[in-house]
Amino acid sequence: MKISSYEEYKEVYQKSVDDPEGFWAEVGQEFQWRKPWKRVLDWNFDEPNVKWFEGGKMNITENALDRHLEENANKPAIIWEPNDPSDEAVTLTYQVLYDRVCSLANVLKKYGIKKGDRVCIYLPMVPELAIAVLACARIGAIHSVVFGGFSAKSISDRINDAGCKMVITSDGAYRGPKVIPMKETVDHALESCPSVERVLVLTRTRTPVAMLKGRDLWWEDEVKYVEAKCPAEEMDSEDVLFILYTSGSTGKPKGVVHTCGGYMVYATYTFQNVFQYEPGEVHFCTADIGWITGHSYIVYGPLCSGATSLMFEGVPTYPDAGRLWDIVDKHKVNILYTAPTAIRSLMSFGLQYVKDHSLSSLKKLGSVGEPINEEAWHWFKENIGKGSCPIVDTWWQTENGGILISGLAGITPEKATYATLPLPGVQPVLVDENGNELEGTGVSGNLCIKFPWPGIIRTTYGDHERCKQTYFSTYPGKYFTGDGCLRDENGFYRITGRVDDVLNVSGHRIGTAEVENAINMHLGVVESAIVGFPHDIKGQGIYAFIITERKPAEPEMMRKDISATVAQIIGPIAKPDKIQFVSGLPKTRSGKIMRRILRKIAEGDVSNLGDTSTLLDPSVVDEIKAGAI
Ligand code: WT7
Repeated sequence: MKISSYEEYKEVYQKSVDDPEGFWAEVGQEFQWRKPWKRVLDWNFDEPNVKWFEGGKMNITENALDRHLEENANKPAIIWEPNDPSDEAVTLTYQVLYDRVCSLANVLKKYGIKKGDRVCIYLPMVPELAIAVLACARIGAIHSVVFGGFSAKSISDRINDAGCKMVITSDGAYRGPKVIPMKETVDHALESCPSVERVLVLTRTRTPVAMLKGRDLWWEDEVKYVEAKCPAEEMDSEDVLFILYTSGSTGKPKGVVHTCGGYMVYATYTFQNVFQYEPGEVHFCTADIGWITGHSYIVYGPLCSGATSLMFEGVPTYPDAGRLWDIVDKHKVNILYTAPTAIRSLMSFGLQYVKDHSLSSLKKLGSVGEPINEEAWHWFKENIGKGSCPIVDTWWQTENGGILISGLAGITPEKATYATLPLPGVQPVLVDENGNELEGTGVSGNLCIKFPWPGIIRTTYGDHERCKQTYFSTYPGKYFTGDGCLRDENGFYRITGRVDDVLNVSGHRIGTAEVENAINMHLGVVESAIVGFPHDIKGQGIYAFIITERKPAEPEMMRKDISATVAQIIGPIAKPDKIQFVSGLPKTRSGKIMRRILRKIAEGDVSNLGDTSTLLDPSVVDEIKAGAI
């Protein structure tokens, strides 16, 4: 189903609310099912228990690959642009991608991977990452992709939580001018992962790696001796497709579980409608497949649509800040989907990196991951879209599987900094702290969704109660997003940011508790509190208030050491931008840290800290204010 006018959007939206099952049945019919579903939807948000297309049998890779072979076998499925622009780009046609996926699927089978087994994938942005994901899906194994920037400890936590039997990695990764070890990091992780039987290693950088007999295997060797045909495992619509870990406001990252049928339908439907994809277009999503954006809009959505998806191995600033524009011109990119943090970063380098590029192939632009500020929106519109490409500001979350609130490119009206409208099938509501629904326009509150859509999270792996607590208990009967939001006089939505203790740093979701736990593991640290502060490029930066046993003799060195500990425990993306050593934290009599006060201080707004009289020791506030960075 592809909506092609604003009028049609309104009609279809209404239909999707009046008759959700009829609406989704129509969308679902566009896919290849081995057996039709018996029931479109069964749900309650109390347990929660959500089932889409129950009884339907299918395999997502038959929709992403097999069904394109008859007419489009030689059409490019993936265009891969390497880190180094002087290396050759690679195009994988649907036929080649199919063959490689089948070969790898046979390797996985040979080493005992079966339907339902978990496989951890820790790879750079090379075509083999997409191949590994699809090979798992082919045989019904559950993939858990871990972003290449995460530490050994983060990898082992994720492997152990999911009980992965296999890890797929590479010797190393290229990232701009750097070569990053991958296998070595996996080796460290595996010191504490008893469930892992095999490690499949791709050669990318030719970095020397230790290869353990009986455990480690070379990708290149293994794929030589298998057939390039592998029947797809028949999956139930509600069988698990993948797990993807994401941070929340408390404790360890949780494994968000998505299932086969609903996720397939939702990722594909949103891809086609939001980007108004037309056959032959080249779609370039700059995210990493290690995040949900890459899962849905590099791999599954585009491939299930028979589109050409561009995968980029490197970073937007290497060899210089014109790299994305080089890629757009070189591969005649039609749809560019990126993050505000990338836009702001490239903006800061100046227009000289844009000016020698034609960018005339671009038709549609997209933004994702964090609120886009007015300035970045207009810069993107004028300088990249040359004033004529629509921008879709797409709001959604790992737990959603696909975009929930966004314009449809060139179809619905746009408004800078507004994600605008819910997609047909999505029913957002704003609520106040007491859970009362706020009706009408010109209101702001906490964003909830009151009806399921096919891409909704099914559970958090191994801990269903946590799923219920996190998303379905704050406002009973509704899915709570954790975001604040306003609805303007036209009914357009603007996401204002998280209302919980979750930070969004360069579009990466980081839990404050997670960073605090990492900092607290550092020698000599007694306690810490993390808050976000506005950052010109990253959107939010990480500000750490830290109590140490003794006043640090070399504070600058200690800051670096603490950052190193955080990088080792979580990954470099979670390193604090600012560290202030303090002798106490503003706590209430019941021992709760008043983050509101710390947030104000971190923002540099100390004029009005509000009521501090309930603090156990109000004097710490003056000390913290005086020492603010
Ligand atoms: C959080 C989800 C799936 C998208 C990639 C990040 C924020 C996401 C927008 C947007 C304002 C946005 C929200 C959300 N966010 N997109 N267009 N405008 N905020 O996925 O890591 O699961 O993070 O990112 O705060 O809750 P994620």
